[in-house]
Amino acid sequence: MTKQVNDPGSDPGGDLAGKHVVLGLSGGIACYKAAELCRALIKEGATVQVVMTEAAEQFITAVTLQALSGRSVYTSQWDSREANNMAHINLSREADAILVAPCSADFMAKLLHGGADDLLSLMCLARPIDKVPLLLAPAMNRQMWAHPATQRNMAQLQADGATILGVGTGFQACGETGDGRMLEPPELLEDIVAFFTPKLLAGQQVLVTAGPTYEAIDPVRGITNLSSGKMGFAMARAAREAGAQVTLVAGPVSLPTPRGVTRIDVKSAQNMLEAVLEKAPAATVFIATAAVADWRPASAAERKIKKDGSGQAPRLSFTENPDILATLAQSPRARTGELLCVGFAAESHDLEGNAQAKRQRKGVPLLVGNIGPATFGRDDNALLLVDAQGSRELPRASKLRLARQLVADIAGRLK
Ligand code: CTP
Repeated sequence: MTKQVNDPGSDPGGDLAGKHVVLGLSGGIACYKAAELCRALIKEGATVQVVMTEAAEQFITAVTLQALSGRSVYTSQWDSREANNMAHINLSREADAILVAPCSADFMAKLLHGGADDLLSLMCLARPIDKVPLLLAPAMNRQMWAHPATQRNMAQLQADGATILGVGTGFQACGETGDGRMLEPPELLEDIVAFFTPKLLAGQQVLVTAGPTYEAIDPVRGITNLSSGKMGFAMARAAREAGAQVTLVAGPVSLPTPRGVTRIDVKSAQNMLEAVLEKAPAATVFIATAAVADWRPASAAERKIKKDGSGQAPRLSFTENPDILATLAQSPRARTGELLCVGFAAESHDLEGNAQAKRQRKGVPLLVGNIGPATFGRDDNALLLVDAQGSRELPRASKLRLARQLVADIAGRLK
């Protein structure tokens, strides 16, 4: 068998380009999600070989998965298409990973005991354990998931080297609500991309601020800005992919939390500072992407400010907000190098000059400059990395790609 590289719709520059994934389906209603997962893996550039158990075929047809993967599906260990009649050996030797999604309770139990009476379990057992990782996406009823037998099996499978991707929570096909759903395809995709990412930030605790802040004028109005939070969320995701423990302190934005990231939602600059100060003692890297409001109304009115009929606008007075980045950069841990502080700067002109001046003013070793009006709300950006040695450009790319490059740069500075 040769690896097919021109699968339909595959992105050669995607996050999984060059990876060959064997996608195993065991029996469960979540098989319907596996079709979308297969598509998503291919879109990111992977080639996908599907293997199904007999039980999986009760839920979805091999025809669907063949059409989506562009390869005929394997369902039997007796498949005569293989010249040596050893599909379990051939399929597992060419895989970069085997992903079982959905992985039923029964299939977990079988894997645990080294059962091998169908192609999928046989292939998992026959895989070279040190070369071909096994990733499992469990899917089952909440009682089955919570059962001591399943939990015991999961712990032992982990001890045996499998990676358990976790389960989702919510409404289940059986009508009950709880833990045990298979993760959604975009969540699984994020986990698989992270799995393949080199762990440049292993052991690091990364604290990120993101989004705008909201400074209340009265209970219904406030001052905010156009920051979308996308760059900060991309930084959090990239840091987690690289193996860091990540806490994301987010101003008011409606972006989904990156997988595996702890999120703290805040509103005002003051709230953001408090959250950051609470988490800072454990952090080894602080990345300030938030567009913090420089000023807040000196005192927010308790009731909505009404027009008084005079035609005069109300007079507002302002107080300067704390500078979160400068506060951390001046802390003893930052000064001794235990905490690496990275700032961002949204400028409108003379990016290099302004960014270099801001870097020195804030006292940070690395400041990342960008042209604010050209990036707010967009999915792409161009960055200028400014440090004591000078500057380096990261040309226009998606915010996630830039975030990954920045993570690599930061990892280099930690050495
Ligand atoms: N920052 C912060 N707290 C503030 C203001 C800014 O932590 N109160 C951080 C931002 O998250 C960013 C960096 O400082 O990492 C620079 O933010 P920016 O708004 O560009 O700079 P300002 O200090 O507000 O300077 P100016 O408005 O004069 O350009």
